[in-house]
Amino acid sequence: MTMAPTEYSDEAAELLMDPHSFADMDRWHERMGRIRRATPVVPVAIEGFAPFLAVLRHDDIMAIEREADLWLNTTRSVLQPDGDFKAMEDFGIPAPRSLVHLDGTEHRDYRNVTNDWFKPAAVGKLQPKVDEVADFFVRRMHDLGGTCDFARDIAQQYTLKVVMEIFGVPEEDRQLMLELTQGLFGAADPEFMGDASDPFGSLVNSMTKFISYFDALTADRRQCPTADLASTIANGMPGGHPMGEVERLWYYVLVATAGHDTTSFALSGGMEALLREPEQFWALRDDPQLLPNAADEIIRWTTPVRHFMRYATAPTEVCGVEVGPGERVLLSYPSANRDESIFEDPDRFDVRRPDANRLLSFGYGTHFCLGAHVARREIRTMLARLTTQLGSIEPVGPAQWMESHFVSGVKHLPVRYSFTE
Ligand code: HEM
Repeated sequence: MTMAPTEYSDEAAELLMDPHSFADMDRWHERMGRIRRATPVVPVAIEGFAPFLAVLRHDDIMAIEREADLWLNTTRSVLQPDGDFKAMEDFGIPAPRSLVHLDGTEHRDYRNVTNDWFKPAAVGKLQPKVDEVADFFVRRMHDLGGTCDFARDIAQQYTLKVVMEIFGVPEEDRQLMLELTQGLFGAADPEFMGDASDPFGSLVNSMTKFISYFDALTADRRQCPTADLASTIANGMPGGHPMGEVERLWYYVLVATAGHDTTSFALSGGMEALLREPEQFWALRDDPQLLPNAADEIIRWTTPVRHFMRYATAPTEVCGVEVGPGERVLLSYPSANRDESIFEDPDRFDVRRPDANRLLSFGYGTHFCLGAHVARREIRTMLARLTTQLGSIEPVGPAQWMESHFVSGVKHLPVRYSFTE
């Protein structure tokens, strides 16, 4: 990379890499907005990490994701200290090879194993199940008697239950899935470290438990396949060949983790935004046709996946900065979703926003989020119920954000509410 550090490099590094930065997202956007308006890309070089170029604007991220042959994902598509990759292998945890870490025809073949599950028609058939789970959690809100932590008690549990139903993980193991996911994504947040004393220990703990759980699940579904997604993965034949053991493990980890924390943070963060703008909450009751657009605006606004990395295969440039083969860029989705050249008044939350569907929260191109239709459906299904069945809802304490530079959002949202009947 030929560009020397700039006056923005240190601040960009702090915003993109320090987990604490994600504990105050209004401030994050204010600071990142200032950087993005001054410069579209920022070189970042921090000890312990290979340098990268942070890409902050919407068009540039789309252009990179469009050229999947020029820009690879690789096993390092999530930003971690370089030492962690080696240390994980020392602990017997194989280098990640989930869909988001694969490239080219290998990625296509593995994606095809589960693709049919996530097509709009297939996801449409899940609606009765999503309705049932949503009803269950609205009843739980009722039973909680007028106050709850909406993020912890409702958003998290609801999205977990939907994905685990699709996946086929039995009820009694769901809490374990939640804890392991939080240990992985929330590894830097003291609340989710479990019995580990540092982020890396938390990550290793979670991965070790995931490995033994999914090994047993595979053995079971190979012996007695059912109609669930776990059976599809256990018996998948990417490109006509049996799935590699490492790839199978990571396939499970990806679906189990990508499927619920992301959607949960979108729902809790969306509720937090709606409580700041109650007129918009009640507008969804008066005009339910707004719900699909509201779901997109919520996912744009919250952008729970904070980044992915891409690696150049040939000499190229991004916004005039040369990038050599093997060098890398960080795609900042939250920044792109507040890009003022795409979205008018981007820091305003607006369920009526005419172009909310230009959101980049699900990425773009060959790796575009498989679960996007599921996530959108879950959010609008829950909001449809809450806006019609609640008579009032208000915050009763400050929201708290999870501290993580990869997947994060509102982790606590204390609310008081009443039902109409
Ligand atoms: C609001 C909720 C969600 C957000 C913000 C989100 C975001 C993302 C992003 C940014 C990517 C990478 C896209 C890229 O590189 O271009 C991705 C990939 C993926 N997501 Fe999601 N996701 C969400 C919900 C879900 C759900 C509910 C599932 C499954 C039930 C899911 C499964 C996946 C899978 C399997 C991939 C890998 C796709 C590939 O690499 O080919 N996601 N998601």
